[in-house]
Amino acid sequence: MKLPTKPLLLQVLIPSFAVVVSAECTRGFLTGATERYILAQSAGNIAALTAIASPSLNYTESDVVTDIHKSVLTQPMKIDHGTSIHDPVNCATFTELIVTGGGNSTANKPYVIGTRMAFSADASNTYKATLIETIATKPGDWAFNATGYLHWTSRENWAPIPASKRDSRAVIKAAGDAYFDRFANVNASVPWGDSCQRLEGGAYTDTRGQGGNTCNLGLPSTLVVTNRRYVVDEEMGAVAIFVGFPGLDRSVGEQPMPDSHLFRVEGGRIRYIHTVSTCVHAGCGMNGSGIPGQKRFMSDSGANMKARVGRRSVRLRY
Ligand SMILES: *[C@@H]1O[C@H](CO)[C@@H](O)[C@H](O)[C@H]1NC(C)=O
Ligand SMILES: *[C@@H]1O[C@H](CO)[C@@H](O)[C@H](O)[C@H]1NC(C)=O
Ligand SMILES: *[C@@H]1O[C@H](CO)[C@@H](O)[C@H](O)[C@H]1NC(C)=O
Ligand SMILES: *[C@@H]1O[C@H](CO)[C@@H](O)[C@H](O)[C@H]1NC(C)=O
Ligand SMILES: *[C@@H]1O[C@H](CO)[C@@H](O)[C@H](O)[C@H]1NC(C)=O
Repeated sequence: MKLPTKPLLLQVLIPSFAVVVSAECTRGFLTGATERYILAQSAGNIAALTAIASPSLNYTESDVVTDIHKSVLTQPMKIDHGTSIHDPVNCATFTELIVTGGGNSTANKPYVIGTRMAFSADASNTYKATLIETIATKPGDWAFNATGYLHWTSRENWAPIPASKRDSRAVIKAAGDAYFDRFANVNASVPWGDSCQRLEGGAYTDTRGQGGNTCNLGLPSTLVVTNRRYVVDEEMGAVAIFVGFPGLDRSVGEQPMPDSHLFRVEGGRIRYIHTVSTCVHAGCGMNGSGIPGQKRFMSDSGANMKARVGRRSVRLRY
């Protein structure tokens, strides 16, 4: 004999649920969104992306509000490598694109691009992109070398973290925050991995493949890294943080520069750091004497880049 209690309860509960519960931002939705982003950038056609964008989309390049119809997205690119991370809690994504350029087309210029997208539910409970912020670096930007970016990235392991070894969101985010906190406080404790490599624009801290912690070769301690915007992905053990990083471009003093850092965190400790940073003026005001894209710098294994940034007190090692 059937008991009516359960079905009756369900009948009562389901309609009220439908009213109260809003749509969920899922990993599946976000993965579809980054696929659309990569498709749009490959084709140089924003249609795939605008289809999921809010009418009030805020699109920025290097922190400047930009018309998406005249943006870097309208330029077709042969994308050599793309890594995306997805954050259903913040309903946000981050994608790193590496374009080495070359080939037959003069339009096929090299780029390394970091893009953060944030989504909100609209009035009909459909998630739409409300913010797309892009840092599209090219020759003349901080340590730019797309070939190098591809070369070093391809040697790293960015596979998803096995479920049993995943860190919590809080732990992953804290590792990235600790790194930035360290720039303003010599005593901030950063969870360095036993092996840690940093890739900036194309320059690598461990070109000789010696392993060990090459992310901490001496950092400044007076730089306040501002305006942090996060994308956290537990499955990838990753956090992308968009920030204002002061002192990168010497022509503008301590003005915080558009900057993205992607951290890979394993067992609570920093394994890799990838940065994408633009200059206001090509060469970051260093007149070709310093970091942006310099051969001399690239061969400087143990590259102590950030230590050299904008600090007169730090001896330059070129
Ligand atoms: C657009 O986004 C940028 C970067 O996050 C922010 O500075 C700016 O205030 C936003 N503009 C609008 C109109 O929301
Ligand atoms: C250059 O163009 C030729 C002819 O259009 C094509 O066959 C070839 O694959 C192209 N090479 C590259 C590197 O794009
Ligand atoms: C860019 O990186 C590649 C790969 O590491 C390297 O061979 C090349 O010399 C670098 N270019 C410059 C200008 O440093
Ligand atoms: C860092 O720690 C040292 C040793 O405890 C202390 O002397 C110094 O004042 C601290 N510096 C800052 C900025 O907190
Ligand atoms: C770059 O050149 C300008 C003009 O000659 C000069 O004022 C500035 O100090 C130089 N910057 C560096 C970092 O050498």
